[in-house]
Amino acid sequence: MIVTIDGPAGAGKSSVARKLAQALGYTYLDTGAMYRAVALMALRHKIALSDAETLAQLARTLPIRFGPLSPDGVQRVWIGEGDSAEEVTEAIRTPEVSQATSIISTHSPVRRALVERQRQMALAAENGVVLEGRDTGTVVVPQAELKIFLTASPQERARRRAAELRAQGLEVSEETILKEQEERDARDSRRTDSPLRPAPDAILLNTDGLDLDAVVRQILSLHQERCNQRRCGVSEA
Ligand code: DC
Repeated sequence: MIVTIDGPAGAGKSSVARKLAQALGYTYLDTGAMYRAVALMALRHKIALSDAETLAQLARTLPIRFGPLSPDGVQRVWIGEGDSAEEVTEAIRTPEVSQATSIISTHSPVRRALVERQRQMALAAENGVVLEGRDTGTVVVPQAELKIFLTASPQERARRRAAELRAQGLEVSEETILKEQEERDARDSRRTDSPLRPAPDAILLNTDGLDLDAVVRQILSLHQERCNQRRCGVSEA
């Protein structure tokens, strides 16, 4: 089965999608990590973040490899080929890369290139797949059998983001995060190509005040319902 988890930053998508993929024994596809990998290479090679065509070429060709999810929910990411591949798991999560990613992901040619790769990866997954992103249920695999759109209040999302940064040793006020978050939300929902919005058939889940296990339990029970209605496990193209 194909499951999509979309929603804004800080709604809890990553933790939920990873835990869900583990519980189901499904492949996990972190679409944001692919945009981040392209942004990291663009920064390193000093490609202008406005140069949509060069960035799209990079998005089409950059080798990106994902490792399996570890029991504690970490997925390692590499760019490059074979022995010369470089692990970029942490390098793609810096604030500088996050900022650049938010810009390059507004370019339609970049989105087209990555969406095509994501679609192929999702359909190649043998057991089942959980995709996490912004447009996975609307654009990447609109045929997904279970689509979840996670939300949370702006304050809750900023609190979670501050805690995440604190865990990385960075102290940023929730007020600053809230302001940046507003700007990013506006950019994400106003962009003409794949604006952030739930698919018409997505199930909206507000995660305010819910712990991770409670959210995952709810989605597992929706998954079970879908399984009872139709074929479960093997993805249907
Ligand atoms: O989920 P994330 O924070 O890793 O996403 C990084 C950036 O990439 C964020 O600015 C939104 C963008 N993104 C996107 O536009 N479409 C996706 N499917 C996934 C991420």
